[in-house]
Amino acid sequence: MADVSVFGLGKVGITLAACLGAAGKRVIGVDVNPGIVDALNARTFTTAEPGVNERYQSLSIDEFEATTDSTRAVAESEVSLIIVPTPSNRLGGFSLRYVLDACDQVGRGMRAKRGRHTVATVSTVLPGSSDRRLIPRLEHASGRRVGEGFGYVYNPAFIALGDVVRGFEEPDYVLLGEADAESGDTLLAVHQAMMRADRPIARMSPVEAEITKIASNTHETMRVSFANMLLSVCSEVPGADVDRITEALAHRMGRRFFRGAVPYGGPCWPRDNRALSVFMDFVGAPSRIPRTIDLFNAEHGEYVLRKILQLAPAGARVGILGLAYKPGTPIVEESFPLKLAQWLMAERRRVIGWDPLAADEVRLVTKGCVRMADTAEDCLRQSDVVVIGNPLAELAAVDWTYAGRATVVDCWRCLPAEVTSRVGSYVPLGRGPDGSVATWLERTTDGRFDLAVN
Ligand SMILES: NC(=O)c1ccc[n+]([C@@H]2O[C@H](COP(=O)([O-])OP(=O)(O)OC[C@H]3O[C@@H](n4cnc5c(N)ncnc54)[C@H](O)[C@@H]3O)[C@@H](O)[C@H]2O)c1
Repeated sequence: MADVSVFGLGKVGITLAACLGAAGKRVIGVDVNPGIVDALNARTFTTAEPGVNERYQSLSIDEFEATTDSTRAVAESEVSLIIVPTPSNRLGGFSLRYVLDACDQVGRGMRAKRGRHTVATVSTVLPGSSDRRLIPRLEHASGRRVGEGFGYVYNPAFIALGDVVRGFEEPDYVLLGEADAESGDTLLAVHQAMMRADRPIARMSPVEAEITKIASNTHETMRVSFANMLLSVCSEVPGADVDRITEALAHRMGRRFFRGAVPYGGPCWPRDNRALSVFMDFVGAPSRIPRTIDLFNAEHGEYVLRKILQLAPAGARVGILGLAYKPGTPIVEESFPLKLAQWLMAERRRVIGWDPLAADEVRLVTKGCVRMADTAEDCLRQSDVVVIGNPLAELAAVDWTYAGRATVVDCWRCLPAEVTSRVGSYVPLGRGPDGSVATWLERTTDGRFDLAVN
């Protein structure tokens, strides 16, 4: 007998299952992919997500078992967590097709079971999905009514790939979109078992929680974009330093998601931001904020590209350190550094990349078009211009003498002075050139600045 069944053992689901198991909950995991199920039961499955392998591999088969048999999983557990994909569809919304399949499976399991069962959707969905599609589907498949024969909670995860364990064990807060208070209590107890310390709890209706989840990502992209806006201004103004400005602003606005650098990317932020605007358009609410963030993100990418093209003439060899969408992950989905590599190649620059985790993924996704070096030093040796695409921890161990007289464009201003003083030329994006502000304004605005201040 298990306590919790987890439907979907992908990047997020296996981490959730492992954290629950490590917290003493008996877990039965369900996946439609028998290969994953077999590898998990044989304890041979491994993931790059830190902390997961050791957590789940130390559990006995009584403590954590995987299966493709959803009816058994529901029969043997009290709570089912659904964490299957919600891919973007053609209109920019999220397809519920996998979640609906999982609802059918859980619903059929409930039909064959006696006693109450609680279902939680963890997947990211468009606001209204639980009320309009998921709860009715569970009711239809189970023959029960929500709040009577089963409980329902929308319970999204606030996690970052590469740090998912912390997102479950030390979350910023727990969000419960509960159809009834008893179901919310049940889910809260599941989270409290996993959490290392008391964390804030936000309880609300399912649709409010659905809005909260997706709005959280839009707010985060808004902050990233705001800092990126400051980066571009500061890159132009003599003597300006974006970090001094964001650090000062952080006293009023907080530090998180507030470092000027490259455009945001990855599997969640871009698509969640777009999906919020699509939802708002459908319901007739002005969607200019999420749309503008998305537009600005693209514009910022062009700004960074322009800066690098100015430093690397056609035919130049450009090395990019860090090709994944962020450090600590092999994922290249919507990765800005990878897009940059492809844009530079289209502009006749010769690109070579290096990434400690994402090299195979880059080769696969680009069908070998983006060349990858085996070591950072190899990448430096072959480059006239080196771009820091990600603030990788591994950069600290790199032998920068291999960069020779290359120009280093540091999009994150993360290299220490002992390195930056030795390379051919160091260009920290977000720090303006030396020189007089007054002369620069006169030259750049052709005297028009004075009209603005008259
Ligand atoms: N990846 C992230 O950083 C992140 C962050 C927050 C939220 N989310 C959300 O979490 C959800 C899952 O994301 P992921 O990255 O773990 O996906 P994933 O693609 O890595 O894994 C999904 C798993 O679900 C399985 N699956 C599909 N249909 C199933 C079914 N009917 N029954 C059982 N298993 C089924 C698949 O075989 C796969 O193993 C998505 O809605 C995503 O938006 C992801």
